[in-house]
Amino acid sequence: MHPYLLLGASLSLASQASAACTRAQLQDAVTAYINAQASGQVSTITALASSSINYTENDAVLDITKGVLAQPITIDFNRSMLDTTQCATFTELTAATSKHPYVIHTRMLFADDKIATMQSVVTDDGDWAFNATGHLAWTKQEKWDPIPEAKRDSRDVIKAAGDAYLDSWGDGSVKVPYGTPCARLEGGSYTGGGSRASANTCKMPQFPQPFKITNRRYVIDEEIGGLDIFNNFPFIEKTKPDGTPSSNFIRVEGGSIRYIHEATACATRNCGR
Ligand SMILES: *[C@@H]1O[C@H](CO)[C@@H](O)[C@H](O)[C@H]1NC(C)=O
Ligand SMILES: *[C@@H]1O[C@H](CO)[C@@H](O)[C@H](O)[C@H]1NC(C)=O
Ligand SMILES: *[C@@H]1O[C@H](CO)[C@@H](O)[C@H](O)[C@H]1NC(C)=O
Repeated sequence: MHPYLLLGASLSLASQASAACTRAQLQDAVTAYINAQASGQVSTITALASSSINYTENDAVLDITKGVLAQPITIDFNRSMLDTTQCATFTELTAATSKHPYVIHTRMLFADDKIATMQSVVTDDGDWAFNATGHLAWTKQEKWDPIPEAKRDSRDVIKAAGDAYLDSWGDGSVKVPYGTPCARLEGGSYTGGGSRASANTCKMPQFPQPFKITNRRYVIDEEIGGLDIFNNFPFIEKTKPDGTPSSNFIRVEGGSIRYIHEATACATRNCGR
C-alpha cells in the first residue's frame, strides 16, 4: 500500500478511537454532574463541557450558570446509565430531604470528548404526582444491578420495549413486553409494593384519545438493561395538549419491562388534573 494510504487508514482509526467513549469517561462525567448539583458549583461540570454547551431545563434553553445546577441540593439517591455507543449519560437524582425537594432526570451528550448537550427534566412540587419522599422510599427498594453479560439484551430489544410502552398510551393495540413483576414509579406514586409486589402493575390503559409521543431522545445502557426516553408527552398537561417535557426511565430484564420511572413537568399544578 502507498504510505499515504496507510497514513490515511491509521488516521481514520485514530479518529474513530477518539469518537468512542469509555465507561470510565462517562462515569467521570456523571460523578462530576452529581457533585456539581450537590454543591451548586457549576464549574465542576462546565470543566468537562464545551464552551458552547447547549443546556436546557424542561425544554427551555438556559444559561447553565442560571439554572437548577447553581443551587446546592441534598441528593438522597441517584441512578445513572452510561451509553458508550452514543457517548451519552443519563442520571436520575432523588432529593427528598433537600430544603427544596426535587426529582431530576438529566441526559448529557458528548461531542469531541466534551459535554456538548445537557437536557434535564426538573420536577418539584406541583409536577405530575410529585412526591420526592415517596420516590426515594420506592427507588431505594428496587434492584437495578448490572445484568450478567450472557443474559444482557441487545440495544434494539431494550429500545423496542421502551418504544412499545410509550406507543401503547395512544394506541391500546400495541403489545408491550411487560414482565411479571413490573412496577411503575410516577412522581412518588408506586403501582407495585406490598401485596402487588409480584404482579405486573405497569399495564397502562389507553388514554381517552389517540396520540403519538414525539421528540423521543434515548439513552441506553445494556449493562443494566436500562433505557431512558426523553419525550414530549401529549394530553396530560391541560394547557399543553401537544406535549409537556417528560422522561421515562426503564429497566428491561430478559426482554421484559421490570421497572418504569416517570418524571413529567407540569405547567399547571399536577398538569391541571
Ligand atoms: C439547543 O437545543 C434546543 C433543544 O434541542 C434547540 O431548540 C436549540 O436550537 C439548540 N440551540 C443551539 C444554539 O443549538
Ligand atoms: C450516588 O450513588 C452512588 C452509588 O450508586 C453513591 O456511591 C454516591 O454516594 C451517590 N452520590 C450522592 C451524592 O448521593
Ligand atoms: C409522599 O409519600 C410518602 C411516602 O410514601 C407519604 O408518607 C406521604 O403521605 C406522601 N405525601 C403526600 C403529600 O402525598
